[in-house]
Amino acid sequence: MRTRLALTGATGNVGRRILDGLAAGGSRDLVAISRSTSRAVGVGAATVQRKVADYADRAALTVALDGVETLIFIASDDEASSMLVHHLNVIDAAAAARVGHVVYLSSLDADPGSPFCYAGVHAETERRIARSGIAFSIARVSLYGEFFAQWPLAAIGTGELRLPAADGAISLISRNDVADCLIALADQPASGSVALLTGGQAYDLDGVTELTAQCSETSIRAIDLSPAEYRMQVVRDGVSPWWAYAFGTMFAAIREQRFSEVTDKVAGLLGRPPTPFRNVLEGLLPSSHRQ
Ligand SMILES: NC(=O)c1ccc[n+]([C@@H]2O[C@H](COP(=O)([O-])OP(=O)(O)OC[C@H]3O[C@@H](n4cnc5c(N)ncnc54)[C@H](OP(=O)(O)O)[C@@H]3O)[C@@H](O)[C@H]2O)c1
Repeated sequence: MRTRLALTGATGNVGRRILDGLAAGGSRDLVAISRSTSRAVGVGAATVQRKVADYADRAALTVALDGVETLIFIASDDEASSMLVHHLNVIDAAAAARVGHVVYLSSLDADPGSPFCYAGVHAETERRIARSGIAFSIARVSLYGEFFAQWPLAAIGTGELRLPAADGAISLISRNDVADCLIALADQPASGSVALLTGGQAYDLDGVTELTAQCSETSIRAIDLSPAEYRMQVVRDGVSPWWAYAFGTMFAAIREQRFSEVTDKVAGLLGRPPTPFRNVLEGLLPSSHRQ
């Protein structure tokens, strides 16, 4: 019998990749949940049922999850307090709709004692999922290479990678690997445990700088900023107050090596090594710097 699988965040980078992968498999009825239908989900409309439900709207989420056996729960992307409200809504809706298995996209840093502003949100979300009675599998993922690449890519233009990372290392993972691992977890019986998903190598500031210089054939210097210098830099760069704060806390967690762990879980789930950060970076280089 065909079962129904739903996905939150279906219009996002990870969500679209998941839907493409699942649609290719063809063995389930797919429900793509998003805030509106104005953004495409990347697969033919015939294979996917679209449901509109804001994470803030618990009633709409419950309707969207009706009859769903498996939910891939992509975390929300908002200020931390709103994000937690969103997540509790999804869990309550999943419990009300009697979802059988929740696969939750968490963070490698899900320690409530971390300075990272989202770590406590993920910790509390994981705790609530475990208490909900729904069978679960949790994927704690390191930072996405595509997300982190915004800083080295900008440094190609300025010649300086200026970040408050100290000697913190990051086991950068590609979004596609994250998506493929979430599919793999959804295909397995609920693990009731946490999988740590990372890239195959952790890079510190010098390592990212060297790799970026090599890939772009430019000269780049690493400049380790103090937290105070970084706060001034983001103000000068016009970063919004929330993201200035969020990035500051993320780098504080990086300095504490909270994103440095490297595991073999991606290879275990996918049967192939994780995508190297070099490949992610090369794919994002401006055409003038491609070799
Ligand atoms: N590990 C990392 O480095 C890292 C970095 C950034 C984010 N993240 C987390 O990973 C998640 C997936 O990453 P991604 O690259 O796929 O993110 P993304 O491309 O920004 O997609 C986020 C998705 O969440 C949806 N969304 C946001 N607010 C919503 C709301 N109030 N109600 C319903 N849907 C809402 C967006 O819908 P719309 O199309 O309507 O906007 C979109 O589908 C993010 O949401 C965030 O939690 C992790």
